[in-house]
Amino acid sequence: MQKGLFITFEGADGSGKTTQLNLMKSFLEEKGYEVVVTREPGALELGRKIREILLHYEGKVADKCEMFLFLADRAQHVETFIKPAINEGKIVLCDRHTDSTVAYQGYGRGQDVNLLKELNKIAVNGLEPDLTLLYDVSTETAQNRVGSEKDRMESAGIEFHKKVRNGYLEVQKENPERIKLINANNSIEKVFDDSKNIIIKLIQEKLGE
Ligand code: TMP
Repeated sequence: MQKGLFITFEGADGSGKTTQLNLMKSFLEEKGYEVVVTREPGALELGRKIREILLHYEGKVADKCEMFLFLADRAQHVETFIKPAINEGKIVLCDRHTDSTVAYQGYGRGQDVNLLKELNKIAVNGLEPDLTLLYDVSTETAQNRVGSEKDRMESAGIEFHKKVRNGYLEVQKENPERIKLINANNSIEKVFDDSKNIIIKLIQEKLGE
């Protein structure tokens, strides 16, 4: 049996994935698991500096600069935080990971999707999520949930966000075993029930409990 678990939470800005991640943390801790919550970009000190540029830099950020910054944050995060936590037997819940780069920089910004998949592999150095929950919601609903105070990525416009959503759905179709699609238009309670059922099954399969 493997030691810990690595579960990623993906979806549009405003999909509700962070709320679900926090509910899941409490649920798993009540069951006695050691859980760590983390996120990309910007979980660690170095990453927080990268996040500040990515979300709040006011000048022009070239698409390739943006791409490498997300990847740089990931490489640091995986090496210094995620892998050690999994090796210690923890359940790592990560708010965004490799699929975000394919959806946002690939489908959204138009960078080469196959190239991004290769660059992601270099950044994670052999790590793959045991499970990814993809929270899918209509772009209009997601944008309304985000509200009017938007960061640099959230301000990219509705057409961009529609492409991102479509990108996520493509990636899910290519990886149906790893990525489970959840209808995030439903109520928080229903979405949490759906998420819980998938995670309980994974824990039984991978940790034998
Ligand atoms: P967050 O607000 O969910 O923490 O995510 C930060 C923003 O960065 C969000 O708009 C999605 C975007 N993003 C990318 O464009 N590419 C990536 O690889 C990651 C991890 C996030």
